[in-house]
Amino acid sequence: MSQEIIDFDTNPPVVADEYEQTASLALPGYEIMHTFVLACLRSYLPETANLLVVGAGGGVELVRLGQSNPQWQLLGVDPSAKMLAIAEQKIAQHQLSQRIKIIQGYVQDLPTDPVYDAATSILVMHFIPDEDSKLAFLKGIAQRLKTSAVFILIDVYGTKGSPELDTIIATVHAYWQETGFPVDKQKQFMENFNNGVYPLSEGKILELLHQAGFSNVIRFYTGLWVGGWMAFKG
Ligand SMILES: C[S@@+](CC[C@H](N)C(=O)[O-])C[C@H]1O[C@@H](n2cnc3c(N)ncnc32)[C@H](O)[C@@H]1O
Repeated sequence: MSQEIIDFDTNPPVVADEYEQTASLALPGYEIMHTFVLACLRSYLPETANLLVVGAGGGVELVRLGQSNPQWQLLGVDPSAKMLAIAEQKIAQHQLSQRIKIIQGYVQDLPTDPVYDAATSILVMHFIPDEDSKLAFLKGIAQRLKTSAVFILIDVYGTKGSPELDTIIATVHAYWQETGFPVDKQKQFMENFNNGVYPLSEGKILELLHQAGFSNVIRFYTGLWVGGWMAFKG
């Protein structure tokens, strides 16, 4: 089995134009998951807040969060030019360009001042292959957050090869039959999962979050193999 680095421009798991449609068929609860994120953030943030969206991709969460909170300012960061081109279009269509900015790059490219009240990383960290780089990613986010800021992490999780994850994967296949996710795409999705997605067990995720400087971690979402955690800086 070969290990790959998934790059959404040169080696994408899904072509950028099809990302949103594929995600809503393939990822259990994709839409409701964003509603949960919104609810988690709303319950902690004031009406005026400054949010960092890491791995903003095609702009789903940028627009969702920006639309329902008219005084939030959002910065999306993502290395993929193709995904950001879609985000840019979506932001303009919803007339949110005044409050939503995007930058092509990585968290580490941003100024280090702790200016954000919240950050999200939705379906991003599982593409980072090794634990040290995942920890550096989380630390990079923590460094840019104010004390007590809220962080939302959503990732595919579990230990590859474990009976638990294998059972969940069998359930994911059954779920795909229900959503009508085409069989050829299922095959491609699993190839990407096997070769280019690096999930961690929940225990390991919690350990890394603590090492990165987050505490009071709560799991607020589970959609088969997708988990969502809310954590606080400090
Ligand atoms: C599966 S998409 C998720 C997009 C969006 N967050 C969503 O929920 O639909 C993953 C995105 O993460 C970006 N990405 C991958 N590695 C990254 C990293 N180390 N830092 C920031 N973004 C990254 C990719 O370019 C891609 O746009």
